[in-house]
Amino acid sequence: MTATQLSAPAAPTAAADGRGSYWITTFGCQMNKADSERMAGILESMGYREAQAELEADLVLYNTCTIRDNAEQKVYSYLGRQAQRKRTNPNLTLVVAGCVAQQEGESLLRRVPELDLVMGPQHANRLDVLLAQVEQGQQVVATEEHHILEDITTARRDSSICGWVNVIYGCNERCTYCVVPSVRGKEQSRLPEAIKLEMEGLAAQGFKEITLLGQNIDAYGRDLPGITPEGRRQHTLTDLLQFVHDVEGLERIRFATSHPRYFTERLIDACADLPKVCEHFHVPFQSGDDDVLKAMARGYTVDRYRRIIERIRDRMPDASISADVIVAFPGETDAQYRRTLALIDEIGFDQVNTAAYSPRPNTPAADWPNQLSEEVKVERLREINALVERKARERSARYAGRSEQVLVEGINPKDDSQVMGRTRTNRLTFFPAARADGGQWQPGDLVEVRIEEVRAFSLSGTAQP
Ligand code: SAH
Ligand code: SF4
Ligand code: F3S
Repeated sequence: MTATQLSAPAAPTAAADGRGSYWITTFGCQMNKADSERMAGILESMGYREAQAELEADLVLYNTCTIRDNAEQKVYSYLGRQAQRKRTNPNLTLVVAGCVAQQEGESLLRRVPELDLVMGPQHANRLDVLLAQVEQGQQVVATEEHHILEDITTARRDSSICGWVNVIYGCNERCTYCVVPSVRGKEQSRLPEAIKLEMEGLAAQGFKEITLLGQNIDAYGRDLPGITPEGRRQHTLTDLLQFVHDVEGLERIRFATSHPRYFTERLIDACADLPKVCEHFHVPFQSGDDDVLKAMARGYTVDRYRRIIERIRDRMPDASISADVIVAFPGETDAQYRRTLALIDEIGFDQVNTAAYSPRPNTPAADWPNQLSEEVKVERLREINALVERKARERSARYAGRSEQVLVEGINPKDDSQVMGRTRTNRLTFFPAARADGGQWQPGDLVEVRIEEVRAFSLSGTAQP
């Protein structure tokens, strides 16, 4: 059977419930995943239903990432396949959303003339309006700077237990390697009331854990008006956490990503004092060398970073710490790179996302002459990954024999006799689904699990009686 026979074509005159099927593939970070869930919600409210397979869908949307070159290239190979399909199925609607869409804009249409819609991340909530233009026969490019409208649609969320809530869009930093500010635009904070309302809605649906999202979440509130009687900003991440903490039904609150330049002691203290805020901190350091940090325009020193981690561990001794790091940044010497290794060794991270530097369009570092070779990148990445794994294993060892609270998210996809979930410190944990009373553990259950097996990035155990 061909794809066209499987589902109704997306005719402009189709009834609201007969628009056909959609498929979304999401690349990149949690912001993109959150945007995809909102776009899926919009499509469903327009009458689309989820397709069983990518090659059968009437509307295919790629929500793209351009943080590194290999992320960007991925979408072109996906698009090639769909463009070919469109030649035999003109009713197919092809959409590129997200960060590659924003970066490339109209030139994407020249490269892939089969595209119907190219839309930047700031336009995610306007998918229905843009598709209406497509249905009138236009090829649409929506990449202009846009004030993000408060989301009035209901997202179609992948999990019914753990949800993401955007608190600040965009980024005003200018890290010299990073494409995010140019594709995500200026910082726009949502109002605390809107954030709380969304969290209350999720809690009412049974969600137990919320992760508050922002590229630089410590910047939350700087674009909102208001000064307290003590003369400080009225809206900060700390105030937001306090404001949303007591939403009934929620068990856990997380937030990401933290920026060492803005991370405050007040925030650390609030995290220690607020019981629902989990003891896990994602604080990218990017390099263990002060001169490299300066060239990256990160705005802090390694020492400041150390003090933040010390303070976190002082208040929450068992807290887990994760981070991002870049190796082979332009001009990074072997000695500078070794300082990064030394910092990983010293801090003992629970997890580190590593990447070799990749030159990005419209970023200063991409034009510098002191680029390092592919061989150096590959070798440094290999070495650092081995260290990261060794340290993660060391950190995992502390769980052996302990009892940890795990929030069940679902069945282990590799073994359906097990469920999986996370500890408060964000370690993935597996344990038998069968309960002592003959029932099964369900998503949303909070279970005390005795940890019996530890691996670098996950744990296994059994539920405590
Ligand atoms: N806002 C976050 C990071 C967002 S991007 C922060 O400030 O830390 C996610 C990660 O991708 C970054 O932390 C960085 O480690 C990596 N990254 C960003 N640009 C990169 C580039 N040009 N080359 C390699 N890695 C990059
Ligand atoms: Fe990129 Fe820096 Fe903004 Fe993070 S803080 S998104 S690394 S510019
Ligand atoms: Fe990628 Fe855009 Fe996120 S570039 S990492 S999807 S903000």
